[in-house]
Amino acid sequence: MEFDITVLPGDGIGPEVVAEGLKVLNAISDRFHHTFRFHHALLGGIAIDTHGTAMPAETLDTAKKSDAVLLGAVGGPKWDDPTKPVRPEQGLLGIRKGLNLFANLRPIKLMSSLLHASTIKPETLDGTDLIIVRELTGGLYFGKPSRQWTNAQGRRAVDTLAYSEKEIRRILLTGFELARGRKKRLTSVDKANVLTTSRLWRAIANELAVDYPDVKLEHMLVDACAMHLIRRPAAFDVIVTENMFGDILTDEASMLAGSMGMLPSASLGTRTWRRNGQTLRLGLYEPIPGSAPDIAGQGKANPIATIQSVALMLRLSFGLDAEAEAVEKAVIDVLALGYRTVDIMEESATLTTTTEMGNIISDRIHHG
Ligand code: IPM
Ligand code: MG
Repeated sequence: MEFDITVLPGDGIGPEVVAEGLKVLNAISDRFHHTFRFHHALLGGIAIDTHGTAMPAETLDTAKKSDAVLLGAVGGPKWDDPTKPVRPEQGLLGIRKGLNLFANLRPIKLMSSLLHASTIKPETLDGTDLIIVRELTGGLYFGKPSRQWTNAQGRRAVDTLAYSEKEIRRILLTGFELARGRKKRLTSVDKANVLTTSRLWRAIANELAVDYPDVKLEHMLVDACAMHLIRRPAAFDVIVTENMFGDILTDEASMLAGSMGMLPSASLGTRTWRRNGQTLRLGLYEPIPGSAPDIAGQGKANPIATIQSVALMLRLSFGLDAEAEAVEKAVIDVLALGYRTVDIMEESATLTTTTEMGNIISDRIHHG
């Protein structure tokens, strides 16, 4: 089959890790005879430098016309001043909103070869395989009013936490559906003892649960969830939560896998279409680690998060399960063979650069 992919390398280590993701896509196209057409566009700091805006209109246009988007990372010290009116993060939020990518999926699966790479005790981590479903286009990130002003008492600022029934329902449904295909446990995370939006969230979750008798729904307050994530991570299956809670919990949970450099993410929208009898769904795929400007250009970045994001793209946007599995298997094999980037390096392992790791994984895919 043929697919159009918008490629947004972005800033910092973004271009380096994205290059390895594209290498893996090329390996997949050789082995499985697909055509992936790459359309490069600008997002983040690099777009500010060249266009004066973090998300130029042509970037959104290109992305809208494509089947999936591969994003590296945005941001860096050069554009870091939070008081500046134009910031790289606006590109990220802009493309999420512009493509209506309401469901952010962050799977956290501990690879047995990395059991000792985490700061958490191996016996606590053993068996960890969870996925956080984060609402991505609502809540505090987008609520209005959001502004700062001055009155007689001094400066004031406001952000707004607002959710509609429709927004809550569709993200909870994503959680229920995912749980149905996994271990059938759904943890809905809120702050219903304080927040009105959370009480609506909880009520809708209970209503939807009637249609999912096979899924065990539990409600958990966000502070308790933060605690249980490191106390008994293996007990979770699918966690579903609103935008800001999800932002915080996904960084915490990423440490369970040893290094952020391992973790992929998928952001899915509402747009689906049929091609060759297959249902395709627009999604944006992005490694969790961010732009890591301190190690940019040194070959130290771990490309596995991006490569795993490519696997999610193949599965979730293109419905290519065997191809996704080929990527995931190559990653597991290469780690079992002892290859490591510096972030996951351990005694007696073989240290690789970003490019070497991408080459070894791509070779592995070529040779099945
Ligand atoms: C993330 C990031 C972003 C977010 C930032 C860069 C705006 O932390 O994807 O988790 O808060 O969503
Ligand atoms: Mg975050």
